[in-house]
Amino acid sequence: MTTPHISAPDGSFAPDVLMPGDPLRARHIAQTYFDDPQLITSVRAIEGYTGTWNGKPVSVMASGMGIPSMCIYATELFRFYDVQRIIRVGTCGSLQPAIGLNEVLIASSASTDSNVTTSYTGGLEAASNASPDLVRSASAASDSLGLKSHLGSIFSSDLFYHPDETINDRLTSLGFLGIEMEAAGLYHVASHERREALTIATVSDLLQGSGSLTPEERETGVGKMVELALQTLA
Ligand code: HPA
Repeated sequence: MTTPHISAPDGSFAPDVLMPGDPLRARHIAQTYFDDPQLITSVRAIEGYTGTWNGKPVSVMASGMGIPSMCIYATELFRFYDVQRIIRVGTCGSLQPAIGLNEVLIASSASTDSNVTTSYTGGLEAASNASPDLVRSASAASDSLGLKSHLGSIFSSDLFYHPDETINDRLTSLGFLGIEMEAAGLYHVASHERREALTIATVSDLLQGSGSLTPEERETGVGKMVELALQTLA
């Protein structure tokens, strides 16, 4: 099967897919966590791999950055490769002073300034929700791994370099835990395609404080989150 953005043999994607934003992180996840990872697509250098974890098939492929890129890849995976569940394993900025670098957010819902919601709903301001089963499973997996994770609402922004300098403070006051750029798109695609999705994100930037992960840490420093995602799917 070939789609405009993925060229992988029929049946080569596992029903469960991990999606980081970064293609190098996708390769790192496959090479570090999967047994017997096989490269199945590399269109635009977005490499997809399928391997096994604890004997169970699992795939990984990057979403790229931003809601439009996520929507392309998630739609093609669900619609043409029969993928059933996608867990985004991304990075985010923390909007709450009590949430520090390297801590993990489990996004039960995502609000957005993107048009993706109204495009999918014919104008309704519908909520963008993660799949309840995956939220429950991630929450239980986090407890069993003894992880310090935070369950709640995040904001999926269209702009990384936002012209409104008050935006982060406003989002903090509204109680959002973190900000990233893909979850709301993934949740609407999953709901439209009648499949399941969740976003888990490691804090890489502090927006109510100072500090950020280095590019190397962003690429590889995501071990706890990947274990959490794999355990969630187990
Ligand atoms: N803003 C938006 N998206 C992000 C950030 C951020 O600070 N960090 C990681 N993804």
